[in-house]
Amino acid sequence: MWNFSRNISRNAGESLTAQLQNIVRSEIAQGVLHPGTPMPSTRRLAADLSVSRSVVVEAYGQLVAEGYLEAVRGSGTRVARHLAPAGAASRDQRPEPALPVSPPAPWIDLRTGGADSTPHFPHREWLASYQRALYAVRPGQLDYPPLAGTAPLREELARYMGRVRGVRTAPEQVMVVSGFAQGLGLLCSVLPHRGAPDMAVEDPCHQRLRGFVKDAGMRPLPIPVDREGIDVEALARSGARAVLVTPTHQFPTGAVLSGQRREALLRWAHDVDGWIVEDDHDGDLWFDRAPRPLALQRRAPDRVVHAGTVSKTLVPGLRLGWLVAPPALFADLERVRAHRDLGHDVLTQLAFADLMASGAFDRHLRSTRARYRGRREALTDALQRHLPEASLLGAAAGLHVYVGLPRAADEEALVAAAQRRGVRLRGGREFHAAPHRSRPALVLGYGAHSRTGLRRAAAELAAGYAETAAAGSAGSAGSAPKAARKFSNTGSPRGVLMLSG
Ligand SMILES: Cc1ncc(COP(=O)(O)O)c(C=O)c1O
Repeated sequence: MWNFSRNISRNAGESLTAQLQNIVRSEIAQGVLHPGTPMPSTRRLAADLSVSRSVVVEAYGQLVAEGYLEAVRGSGTRVARHLAPAGAASRDQRPEPALPVSPPAPWIDLRTGGADSTPHFPHREWLASYQRALYAVRPGQLDYPPLAGTAPLREELARYMGRVRGVRTAPEQVMVVSGFAQGLGLLCSVLPHRGAPDMAVEDPCHQRLRGFVKDAGMRPLPIPVDREGIDVEALARSGARAVLVTPTHQFPTGAVLSGQRREALLRWAHDVDGWIVEDDHDGDLWFDRAPRPLALQRRAPDRVVHAGTVSKTLVPGLRLGWLVAPPALFADLERVRAHRDLGHDVLTQLAFADLMASGAFDRHLRSTRARYRGRREALTDALQRHLPEASLLGAAAGLHVYVGLPRAADEEALVAAAQRRGVRLRGGREFHAAPHRSRPALVLGYGAHSRTGLRRAAAELAAGYAETAAAGSAGSAGSAPKAARKFSNTGSPRGVLMLSG
């Protein structure tokens, strides 16, 4: 049954055909009928409006002639697709912001977390798991799920995390969440009631997560990171009683929390009766020769909340993550959640449980690790060859590499020069709480790109770097060219560059 916002009236003083035309024109103009919307058949619309079919045939004919509708051979009539969507006209009238020279469309996007940053989704295996989950589902299972997640997934996750990351937990302590983002929001609602109004965050860190902490009502306190991970003495001075850390592979610097700092961090948590949130965002993607550190949580399961996600191992679009929380916090998390949402998509949970139980997830990780390792090596080898001034920091893991630049390098100019060469990327400053005080750096995501593309991007970056150096030297006065002085400071051995200050 078609409903228009106005009815056709036999007493309107206007023909039925004209009324129908006016209604369709007005519905299109108001954005009710969108370009491409199929119109009902003349027979059906005539029946719905209680008019003769010839009225509709004539109205459609006129609207086609005017360009409002188009007749499509074999599939009736629809609203013309060339029409601008309603509302677009007013947007179009706004003057375009003046761009001096528009950069070329990027041929490679090295931004972390960008579209397609984890392109190796196991389509076939996921489909098989989803199908098995769907066929095996019992009627009650498609009701609202338990808030903490479905039993099969919580069991698989507890087993997996124990086996692979050394996490000490039971299924009852595992909460399935819509990605770490949701988990962090829940924690930020709970921790202030446990004596922690502030959340210490690493500096640099994921800018969005810092924003989430703030928007969730906790005060983010930036704590510096160096090549050993978070500075625990600075953390102790901050007065915080909760901290968000990425100890296995610091985001974005890649630093691994050293053994000494691990001990100090655990001691800090004990001394201040505090909480550690361990964001294990890419702990499953480890390629370094050094052994992968086990989860911090195993050392203090009563103080550490361990968080995992499929955003880097499968795809972010699944919005699937988990928290392992000490019993004292777990009940609070469930209470908060009961007022916020009604649980996570059941079929996705059951499919992921099946993917894990069938061994397909392990196989997927093995093959993606090999692929990502190859891409990382291609990029880092090419950077070392083309841009020897750069220091490649951190462990070989995850989907990005942090490239430290000499202190005097012009990060902003280099990002712009790369962009002009079609290479899209982020500078390190974006991730720092005080960008102007941070050491220049680049953060390069390699997950989505071929080795050839990455090698070419490294060469373009080096060319961009030379260009910014030359520009710096041309703009300077004095006997020694500024750029030469600037960029001669390149002796940082691998991993020794400080990250800020
Ligand atoms: C540092 C860090 N933590 C967590 C995540 C994952 O967040 P989510 O599970 O909400 O996608 C990411 C993803 O990019 C990340 O970079």
